[in-house]
Amino acid sequence: MAKFCFVIHPLSFEDVVRYEPGAKGKGKPIIAKILEWMPPWAAAHVTGVRTPDGRETEGWFVAAPLLPAQMLEMPREQVYERILGAIEIGVGLGAEVAGLGAFTGVVGDGGVTIAERAPIPVTTGNSLTIAAGVRSLFRGADEMGIDAARATAVVVGATGSIGGACVELIAPHVAHVVLVARNETRLRKFHESIRDGLPCASSYTTDISTAVQRADLVLTATSSTQDIIEPEDLRTGAVVCEVSLPHDVSRRVAAERPDVLVVEGGNMRVPGEMRWARVREQGEDFDMGLPRGTALACMSETMVLALENRCESYTLGRGIDLAKVREIDALAERAGFSLADMRAFDLPLSREQIARTRAAAEERRAASA
Ligand SMILES: NC(=O)c1ccc[n+]([C@@H]2O[C@H](COP(=O)([O-])OP(=O)(O)OC[C@H]3O[C@@H](n4cnc5c(N)ncnc54)[C@H](OP(=O)(O)O)[C@@H]3O)[C@@H](O)[C@H]2O)c1
Repeated sequence: MAKFCFVIHPLSFEDVVRYEPGAKGKGKPIIAKILEWMPPWAAAHVTGVRTPDGRETEGWFVAAPLLPAQMLEMPREQVYERILGAIEIGVGLGAEVAGLGAFTGVVGDGGVTIAERAPIPVTTGNSLTIAAGVRSLFRGADEMGIDAARATAVVVGATGSIGGACVELIAPHVAHVVLVARNETRLRKFHESIRDGLPCASSYTTDISTAVQRADLVLTATSSTQDIIEPEDLRTGAVVCEVSLPHDVSRRVAAERPDVLVVEGGNMRVPGEMRWARVREQGEDFDMGLPRGTALACMSETMVLALENRCESYTLGRGIDLAKVREIDALAERAGFSLADMRAFDLPLSREQIARTRAAAEERRAASA
């Protein structure tokens, strides 16, 4: 089977310290300055991805070590150079297809320019992320006893690569879908372009807070580097599926809203006995803060393409082809990938926690009836 590489980057200062404990205690401005100049490197060797029918692939996580805000704020060409440098390292190790993690797939035109310049095909991994995100949202709805057909769903980041497709996949299952983003012109035009084809009522707004107050279901897929969903805005019993990386749901929600279910969208269980071994520090595992045997959906898409020997630039840019979302979802399922257990705020969600959340929502509803 083909081999892959996947470009990663730290989503926060905590990620930097998890990889390099020596960075602890150093000031954030110093860490940021170091990252600004740090060349890409091979961080982890990924082995043991094996399908039930015996196909196997291996690959490498190659770091382009810029923080999300740096990806957005540094000169575009410098960022592209860093990402392309990471892909070159992957190619040197034998990769035949490359995935773009988190903001490396957001910056600029969503991977199009990188793919034009890279020596191997490139994917953002957004098709499988979309499929996994929508599934996670409705799994959460089931857990909270929400009747989706009567629900209002809000997609924040609706004009984005992931959000736009999520709107179209969520719409057939709900009563009303609300599209949210900041750029009103783009939002209006996007809404106009899809409105007539949507099988439910739809509207759009740039006011996140007002939209979320009416929502039973919320999916966030934004490129925000700040929290955008606050506890005071959420409706009792709501489900929030957070696809955004870094996270954009305030951690105050965990403490202040026991009646709201927040779930990470886009975590997958990978078939086989996957291992992430650090390349520089022989014998040490690479820790990305995810449970063993799981990976992000965008990584999983890259792995599936390698397992299928489909070395092609599968998902790029905005305006994702829903047929591809369905195809990669089916290929992933055939290869033994499935939604990982539920998590929220970087921690596992137990059955007891979910039951407590549902009970708290029912209690609040009864109290206000
Ligand atoms: N979980 C996973 O496996 C996985 C995989 C891939 C990507 N991701 C993450 O998914 C997110 C979206 O990626 P993408 O490729 O779809 O990005 P994208 O195409 O750049 O879209 C971003 C969207 O967010 C909106 N936005 C940005 N800042 C906002 C804010 N403060 N408030 C409201 N809306 C805002 C943008 O519209 P405006 O600019 O008009 O606001 C746009 O609609 C990123 O965080 C990425 O890292 C996760």
